[in-house]
Formats: sequence, structure tokens, C-alpha cells
Amino acid sequence: MRTIAVVNQKGGCGKTITSTNLAAFLAREQRRVLLVDMDPQGHATLGLLADTVQPSRTMYEVFLRDAGRPPTGLGDVIRVVRENLDVAPADIQLSAIPETLAGRVGREDILSDALVSVRGHYDYVVVDCPPNVGLLTFNALKACSEAIVPMDPSFFSLHGIGKLLETLDGLAKETDHHVAARVLVTLYPGRSPFVKAVVDEVRRHLAGRHFETVIRYSVKLAEAASHGVPIAHYCKDCAGFDDYQALAAEVLQQEAAAPTSERLAMAPVVTAEGVRFTIDAPHAARVQLAGDFNDWTVDGNEMEPTGGIWQKVVKLPPGRYRYRYVVDGRWQNDPLSAAAEPNPYGGDDSVLVTDVRGADDA
Ligand SMILES: Nc1ncnc2c1ncn2[C@@H]1O[C@H](COP(=O)(O)OP(=O)(O)O)[C@@H](O)[C@H]1O
Ligand SMILES: [Mg+2]
Repeated sequence: MRTIAVVNQKGGCGKTITSTNLAAFLAREQRRVLLVDMDPQGHATLGLLADTVQPSRTMYEVFLRDAGRPPTGLGDVIRVVRENLDVAPADIQLSAIPETLAGRVGREDILSDALVSVRGHYDYVVVDCPPNVGLLTFNALKACSEAIVPMDPSFFSLHGIGKLLETLDGLAKETDHHVAARVLVTLYPGRSPFVKAVVDEVRRHLAGRHFETVIRYSVKLAEAASHGVPIAHYCKDCAGFDDYQALAAEVLQQEAAAPTSERLAMAPVVTAEGVRFTIDAPHAARVQLAGDFNDWTVDGNEMEPTGGIWQKVVKLPPGRYRYRYVVDGRWQNDPLSAAAEPNPYGGDDSVLVTDVRGADDA
């Protein structure tokens, strides 16, 4: 599950437009996406749920830990927007949280803790941040391993970006939590030599910490948001559509940059943690691992998705095992395993042999 905070302490630079449209395009590419609205203005919520009844349960409740009340989980507030796209909504109540939780231990880790419960349900979590660096933004940063920093190319923006990157570096030092941040130039008016100079400056300055995609000014983006739909579902023939599609493509491309071990499906390998099973099933909603080592039990033997690769690590003593994957309810053998033998059901079981030496080495 990739976690991306869309963050900049400056208002009006395109955080919400970027969060909602990136989330929508990723969902179109068959990724399961959760958009978490962390801005008390609730613009992302309105931008996705405008024509439905406003949600009564919001992120406010997830943050509120009232004695005597059962805690509200993230799952309790999540609303389905459309296929592959859910939102955890927010409204103005959320603005009370920093004061309510002042001095409370662990208050910066609430979102991070809450996301644990949805791990495995989503490929992407995109967090829309408020226009300041307070408790809510810190929660977003601690819950995410990546950040997109939208920047409108004005004279003062560069200065703000420098401050923000310093904040991220400070967070990394203090908490050992590293956020890979990349700047995205938004609201690009084109033509003006001044703007071009600012963008060139950003690129020179940030050397690699920016997206190649530039989001142009496109009035359709604002129009779509006011109708409560992402641009992908509003207008396919405008700069806003092309640009956010390109941004999503760039984000998806980075999936390929994940560590090789997480990116590639392969025959089961013995690791220090146990035997690692992997299968490539980018469009599956659910994959389980069944074998003689778990009595061929499907329930409870869920595999975890990373990008399109599902994996599960199982502690197994050295030996010979038979196993199969269950992809959205369909049993299949491991296409990458060299060994298989027929089972009584007319299919093949994959066979895994782990030798003593392999286990000892690991
Ligand atoms: N590329 C764009 N072209 C035209 N209008 C945009 C663009 N990006 C954002 N806007 C508009 O600018 C305003 C601020 O954008 P928003 O995403 O809400 O910023 P933030 O969340 O950083 O405050 C909104 O009215 C939005 O519709
Ligand atoms: Mg916003």
C-alpha cells in the first residue's frame, strides 16, 4: 500500500484538486484508492461527494478518543465514491482536534495507527492536507512515506517550499520517519517568461525532487470540482484531464521503482522471516494462499498486495509442500513454480521443496 500526503502550508496551490484527481485517475487504472480528507474545510469531501447526503461520520470521530465512547475506526467513516475509489470525509469539526488533543501523548500517530486497519484493502492512500503545518498535517506526514508538494509558480512559493522541505527533514531526524517528497508545479499559466523562469529555477533547485508533469491552469478543473466530480468524469478533452492523467502515469511508473523483491513475483523463496510466496495479480480484489501446511484453508490466509504483486510470508520448517493460490475465489497453481503434480480435483498443485541448508542460510 503506497501512502501519499499532498501537502503545502500555502492555501490555493492545488492540493485538493491534485488529491482528488490523482486519486480518481489511479482508480481508473484499477488501483484501489482511499482518499483521506484531513482538511477541516472538507473540500476534497465536497469535491467527491457533492451530490450525495453529507456524511455524518467523519475523520473528526476517528481522532476523537472520548472516554466512555467506543472508538471510531477508519472503516466506520469510509464512504464509497465509485469503483476503486473511497473517501474518508472531513468537515469543519476537524478543526477542533488540535486543541482538543493538545498535550495528549501519541496524538501525532493517530492517522498512522488508523491506516493499519485498512492495509490490504487499498493499493493507494492519498491524504489531502490542510493549509498549515499543525497537528493534522503532522499526522498525515507520519502516516505517509511519500509526499506530493503542489506549487503554484509565484515568486513567494519557492521560499515556502524550502521551509516545507526543511520541516520534512526535521521530521526524519526527530522521528526516524522518512517522507520522499516531490514538488508538482500546478496552476501553470504558460507563456509568461517569468513563470517559465520560476519553473526552471524549481527544477534546478530540486534536482530530481520534482515531477516531470506540470499541471496547467485549466478552468475545467475548478468547474468539475464544483460539480463534485473529478475531471476524469467531467471532461475528457481539456488540459486538466491530460495533465492529471500524466501525473497518475508518473506515479504509477514509480511502482516499478519499488525494491525488486517487492516488485517481482517469483517462485517461493526462503527468507529470514519465512518462505515468501508471491503472485502477480494486478486486477484481483483478494488473493489467498492455501496449502498442505495450512490444511488447504482459504479463510484467514490472505495475501497482501503491493502494487500488483500479492505476497505472504509463512514460517515453514524445511520440507516438501503442495500449495495453490486462490485469486478472487478461483484456485490456480503457481505459474512461476517449476514443479507441480496433479491433484484429485483435476488440476495441478504447485510443489515447493525447501532444503535444510536454504533454511539455515536465511
Ligand atoms: N490547474 C488548475 N487550473 C484551474 N484552477 C485550479 C487548478 N488547480 C486548482 N484550481 C482552483 O484553484 C483553487 C485552489 O485549489 P485547491 O486545490 O482547492 O487548493 P488547496 O487545496 O491547496 O487550497 C480552487 O478553486 C481550484 O478549483
Ligand atoms: Mg484544499
